[in-house]
Amino acid sequence: MNLNSPVITIDGPSGSGKGTIARRVADALGFHLLDSGALYRLTAIAAKNKRISLDDGDALALLARGLDIRFDGNKDRSERILLDNEDVTLEVRRESTGAKASAVAELTEVRTALLERQRAFQKAPGLVADGRDMGTHVFPSALIKIFLTASAEERAKRRHKQLKGKGMDVTLAALSRDIEDRDRRDSERSVAPLKPARDARILDSSGLSIESVANTVLEWVAEL
Ligand code: C5P
Repeated sequence: MNLNSPVITIDGPSGSGKGTIARRVADALGFHLLDSGALYRLTAIAAKNKRISLDDGDALALLARGLDIRFDGNKDRSERILLDNEDVTLEVRRESTGAKASAVAELTEVRTALLERQRAFQKAPGLVADGRDMGTHVFPSALIKIFLTASAEERAKRRHKQLKGKGMDVTLAALSRDIEDRDRRDSERSVAPLKPARDARILDSSGLSIESVANTVLEWVAEL
């Protein structure tokens, strides 16, 4: 483990609140943030733009290695995501993009291509990384590993609220189905499936506020 730039990993299924909690914890500690799901989502968007098929592992890996991405953080923490200098913030968050991301994420070539890119986010004073395999594969010697869960119903409701808040038109029923499909695909894939690391702390956020989940993580960090 690199003590100059410790890593906190937060893994879990979609809608478990990983992204929000990771951002809170990173802000509180003044750490860098890696939203690894965004890299898979951006690979899927770039593939669509370049008309690369979502099962062409070699072409997708080449694409993933060369992605021109910029995360523009604002003071209010709203963030713009640029791909090839084009604002793709809304497209990145669409559930249809999540489904395509889940398809490209099944390919070993793509995962290998994104590995070094993800590890490059580890810089002083530290990093909070959220995703599906942060604790199991990308940062196996992280300082602390969290596996964040919540009931399927609550996860669908949270995602629904989040997407509605961004002005997207989605029904709760369709979203629940999409999330279930994606979770199944992510958990059953042969390469880096969604599962807690052996040394992960499981945190069920059902019925808990963002503050209380973030505070629990911060207390665990402070105890180390
Ligand atoms: O977290 P997010 O919903 O943005 O992730 C989109 C998809 O990217 C996931 O459903 C998963 O298939 C893939 N992913 C992954 N490994 C990660 C992060 C995301 O396979 N570390």
